[in-house]
Formats: sequence, structure tokens, C-alpha cells
Amino acid sequence: VRLWPGLIQHYREWLPVSAATPIVTLHEGNTPLIPSPALSQRLGRDCQVYLKLDGLNPTGSFKDRGMTMAVSKAKEAGAEAIICASTGNTSAAAAAFAAKGGMRAYVLIPDGYVAKGKLAQTLMYGAEIIAIKGNFDRALEMVRQISEHYPIALVNSVNRFRLEGQKTAAFEVVDALGDAPDWLCIPVGNAGNITAYWMGFSQYFQQGKATQRPRLHGFEAAGAAPIVLNRVVEHPETVATAIRIGNPASWVKAKASVQVSGGQVDSVTDEEILAAYRLLAAEEGVFCEPASAASVAGLLKWRDQVPVGARVVCVLTGNGLKDPDTATQQGQTQIHTGVEADPATVARLMGF
Ligand code: F0G
Repeated sequence: VRLWPGLIQHYREWLPVSAATPIVTLHEGNTPLIPSPALSQRLGRDCQVYLKLDGLNPTGSFKDRGMTMAVSKAKEAGAEAIICASTGNTSAAAAAFAAKGGMRAYVLIPDGYVAKGKLAQTLMYGAEIIAIKGNFDRALEMVRQISEHYPIALVNSVNRFRLEGQKTAAFEVVDALGDAPDWLCIPVGNAGNITAYWMGFSQYFQQGKATQRPRLHGFEAAGAAPIVLNRVVEHPETVATAIRIGNPASWVKAKASVQVSGGQVDSVTDEEILAAYRLLAAEEGVFCEPASAASVAGLLKWRDQVPVGARVVCVLTGNGLKDPDTATQQGQTQIHTGVEADPATVARLMGF
């Protein structure tokens, strides 16, 4: 038997854990990196585009990478409960890892702006959901205050162990490609993940596991683009609710990483996001959530700048099943309802 032990065990020497750390794992990580012929062809000029399918983690998003670390370290420190603010995926991951670790979880979410699949799974894992009259940024301020005053561990990405876990995605990309890609395209919300990828690429580069680091190309939604606009957005709005954030916690670190990498942070409109979302499903059979499609929307926006022969990785951060409402609205086909249970009728419907 050769079981994948989860990312902490696999990348143990690269992570701040010790024999005393009780590892709480759902055997996350080890997600596929797949070629995308449809995108490579759109770029042309011998470019190779790959998709990092991090929506295939146990709770359906990359958040599991950070949460296995954050929850293991919280448990090591003796915490019995964890808390986070979330646009949905962090809460699902926090809830699942708390369940596995025998801890209580409390999640603060913006009332009315979390996709249905994320709520469903968080309820199933048994977390307390507190939907506030405010957006993600307000929820994050609140959990920071609460965790300062009460004995509960904060597991948002301001917890440094989160980014430590998330950096393993960069390790996996290099391990799969044999080197770092030339470009990395990634959605940006609270700006933790882009920062974590840079940490991972940098560590591998420094230890000689890669000959280069990629240019980071981060993409915010146009209605929630504080880094691009260089100012806090008080009322962020986007169909990509996962990245509906106006004051990212890792703003400064992300900006510095992007600058050193020679890349940039740009924004993509909801229309561009949804076009990429549909393209991935229709042409690659890959169903991601809208926020994840921002990486591909951004790549398509920048396609003429990609160097000849470049290897590009687009990170698909979350599973399409997370957001059934948007999928149903954006579906490329419609359900034929109320059809007579009769083969001739169905054949006629099919155009025969
Ligand atoms: N993609 C998805 C699917 C996300 O859920 C998030 C963030 C991001 C991208 C952006 O990553 O915040 O590190 O820049 N979701 C957080 C949450 C905010 O609460 O689930 P980031």
C-alpha cells in the first residue's frame, strides 16, 4: 500500500512542524496539474498552458492546504476552538479540519454572499455559521478582535501557518513540471495565496529545486480591485463572491512578491470571468468556480504579452460545484422540463 499521507507529511522538511505537532489531515494536496490544449492553442507561439486543479482538494478548494497546517498548529498549542471570516471556502475547510481534529469551529460570513455549496458543506461538517450584516472585510476585522480577547484560534491567512501550508502548491507545480513555470496566473482576493505561491517558488529556487521563479500575474475582479486601484474598496461587488474583498490582509506582501517577480496585479471584469468559466467547462471539461476562472480570464487578457515558448500555469482554486446557482444561470444548455416519458418525443427533441 502506498497512500498519499497529506501535504504536511509529504513536505515535512519544508514546514514548521515537529514530532510534537499533532497532524490533522484530510490527505489534502497532490492535486493534478493538467495541460490545457484549448488555452495553449489560443496563446499560440509554442506556449504551453497548464491548469492546477486545486478544486480537487478534499473540501473542494486550495484552502485545505493552509488549513491542515493552521489547525494542526492550533491543536499543538492546545486550542479547542477555531474561528475565521470567510467568503465561503475558508469556512468549509476550517469546518472540515475542526471536525477531523475534534475541535469546534465558528465562521463569520457576509450574509447573502456565500455560494450555496460552501454553506451546505460547512453545515455538514458541523461548524457554527454566523452570517453578519457586513462584507468579508468587516468579518475579518471582527474575528481578529474576537480572537484577541477570547481563547479561540484565528485560522484566517493572517495566521502565518496558513501560508506555510499553501506554499506547497508551488512545490507540487515544480515537482510536476521539473522546474518553475515562466508565468503563474492566479486569482487574488485576500492576497494570501499569491503570497504563499511566491514563498514556495522562492524556497524551491533557493534550495536548487528550480532554476527560476515565475512571473506572478494576479487577477482581482474589477468590482473588487483594491490592489489595482491602490485604495481600499468600501463596497466590493463581483459575481466571483469568493474574491469579493476590498481590503486584502496580505496586500503589502502580495504587492512586494509580484514586484520582485516582474509580474503584475490586474483586474478582470465579471464578463471576462464568466466567459473563462464557460470556456473551461465547454472546451476542457473543467468545472471551476467563478473566482478561479479569473486566472484564465487574466491570461486571455494578457495573452499577447506571454513570451514565445513560455510555460504558463493557471491556478484553479475552487471546484465548480461550490456555486450551483451561478452554474445554473451560466449553463451552456437548458433543462428540458416536463417532457413526456416517451422515446419518440425525446428523439424529436434531440432533432431526429
Ligand atoms: N479563489 C477562491 C475559490 C477563493 O475562495 C479565494 C479566497 C481566492 C481565490 C483568493 O485567494 O484570498 O488568498 O487571495 N477565499 C477566501 C475565503 C477569502 O474566505 O474562502 P486569496
